[in-house]
Amino acid sequence: MLRLLMDTDTAGDDVTSMLFALRWPEVSLEAVSVVAGNVYLDEAIANALVTVEKAGRPEVPVFRGAAKPLVRDLVTAHYVHGDDGMGGAHFPKAGGEVAPLYAANAIVETANRFAGELQIIAQAPLTNLAFALLEDPELPRKVERLWIMGGANNSLGNITPAAEFNFYVDPEAAHVVLQAGFNVTLVPWDVCLLDGVLLREELGPILDMGTELSEFYLQANKGAWEFMATHPHGPRIDGISHPDALTTAMAIDPKVITASGRFYVDVEHGGELTRGYSLVDISGATGLDPNCEVVLRANKARFTEMLLQVLSG
Ligand code: RIB
Repeated sequence: MLRLLMDTDTAGDDVTSMLFALRWPEVSLEAVSVVAGNVYLDEAIANALVTVEKAGRPEVPVFRGAAKPLVRDLVTAHYVHGDDGMGGAHFPKAGGEVAPLYAANAIVETANRFAGELQIIAQAPLTNLAFALLEDPELPRKVERLWIMGGANNSLGNITPAAEFNFYVDPEAAHVVLQAGFNVTLVPWDVCLLDGVLLREELGPILDMGTELSEFYLQANKGAWEFMATHPHGPRIDGISHPDALTTAMAIDPKVITASGRFYVDVEHGGELTRGYSLVDISGATGLDPNCEVVLRANKARFTEMLLQVLSG
């Protein structure tokens, strides 16, 4: 059994990632902690509650976390995911409510409950993880593996040329978490573009599927598809990206990872032009010990097969 806690700024591909964790047979999603990022905190919470309900898993607890980064003003991605983060669907409010515990405390409590067994999927700005570290500095030794979707490995960012969104929004939190001693696997944006995008011509099976989950997926990712294909700041690729879902697919089936390497990684939090830049020391030039397994390539065919299995219900 793979026991997961998912930390999310619920919009678009976060929803797809949650569906993997909620619907895959050998996975137990123990908790969802929510942070502001793609959208405002209350919107991300509402989207998480809708997602657990749509997945038929309303019992999975959703916890309220940080409404802004550690020291900076919040930057959101409504321009990517739509005004509600769900492609503008404005789904009816879910029946469930957010759980009473604060997210950082829920992360620590869940890690204590499943010490040595829990894996965390961090698919958002890392603010909640940073607060959880303040709560319990021993957290890295209790968490079996921390999967981080974030950064770019010596390649173009997606919010500035230098930075990927999650690391850009809260670079201080990313720096703190990467230096804390977790067993980190980093899934950077470049791999997600290379091996995690389904092009329009590859989306046919999902467009024709007609299940509740396939329709939910298409609606939640509608904004991101339009952004990818047409937005002047987007990559001009006519397809849907799945950075978060690709990360969770790797946690479920490590064979999705086809190439990786251990490197020293840190995040720029002093610069302005380079805010959120992820230094991936692929040549060892820093002389610092590697602190991450960095994914270099992924198996798109296996990911696609898993996605179709999840959405087919
Ligand atoms: O840069 C991609 C990341 O930023 C993904 O986690 C996406 O959901 C957004 O939060």
